[in-house]
Amino acid sequence: MQSLRGEAIRLEDVWVAYAGSGRPAIRNINLRVNLGNLVLITGPNGAGKTTLIETCLGLLKPIRGNAYLLGVNTRRREIIKVRRLCSYVPQDFMKPPYETYTARRVIELGLASKESIFGIIPNDIRDYILRIARTLRIGDILDKPIGRLSGGQQQKVYIARALVRRPKVIFLDEPFSSLDRDSRHIVAKTIHEYVHENEACAVVVSHDVEPIKDLADLVVYMDNGTIVSMEEIGDV
Ligand SMILES: Nc1ncnc2c1ncn2[C@@H]1O[C@H](COP(=O)(O)OP(=O)(O)O)[C@@H](O)[C@H]1O
Ligand SMILES: [Mg+2]
Repeated sequence: MQSLRGEAIRLEDVWVAYAGSGRPAIRNINLRVNLGNLVLITGPNGAGKTTLIETCLGLLKPIRGNAYLLGVNTRRREIIKVRRLCSYVPQDFMKPPYETYTARRVIELGLASKESIFGIIPNDIRDYILRIARTLRIGDILDKPIGRLSGGQQQKVYIARALVRRPKVIFLDEPFSSLDRDSRHIVAKTIHEYVHENEACAVVVSHDVEPIKDLADLVVYMDNGTIVSMEEIGDV
C-alpha cells in the first residue's frame, strides 16, 4: 500500500559517471524512499553504494534521469538549502590524531549551520547532545580530544554529530565499520529510534547487513552499478 507520508528521496532512471571514467558507476536506478523509513543499501565493494548516496545529496549529478531530495531536483540551486536539512556521515570520517577538538566540540560543530557556534550553546541543546551521546555510550568521553579516541568511539562521535542536527534525512556510509558487536546494535537501534520519533528518513549503506536488517523498512541490494533486488518490509 502506498503510504501517505512525505517523500524523502526519488531516483528516476538515474545514471551517474565519474569524470574521465568510460563506464557509468551506477545505471538505471529507480528508488523511492519516504519519510519515516529506514532503508538499508547493501552489496559488495564497488557496487555503487557510495555513489548512490552522493547522488541523493546532489554532490554528484546524474548524466541521465532525475534525482530528487525532499522533492527538489538535485540539479536545482535550491538543493544547497535542502542539503542543510540533511546529515551525511561519509565512509572516511576519521580525523588525524593531532586533532585537538574535544568530542563534545566535534558534535557541537554539527550544529554550525543551525546555531551560532561562537555563542553559548543553549542548555536544551547541551542536554540533547548529552542524551544522544549517552544513548551511543560515549557520554563519558565527551571531554577527551577526538584524536585520542578509538576508531569506534570516533565513529560514534560523528554519528552523534549527524543526529544532533535533527536531520530530515540522514545518510550513513558504512557506519558499523569500526564498531564492535554491541556498538553495532546500539548504533542501529539509535538510528531506528531517531527515524520513528522524528518522522525522518535514514539511508544506511552497509556491506554488513546483520546489525540493521531486522530494523530496515526497505533493503536494497546493489551489484555492479545497478539495483539487483529490493525487499520491502511492512508498509513503506
Ligand atoms: N572518484 C571516483 N572516480 C572514478 N571512479 C570512481 C570514483 N569513486 C568510485 N568510482 C567507481 O565507481 C564504482 C562504484 O564505486 P562506489 O560507489 O564507491 O562503490 P561502493 O560504495 O559500493 O563500494 C566503482 O567501480 C568505483 O571504482
Ligand atoms: Mg562505498
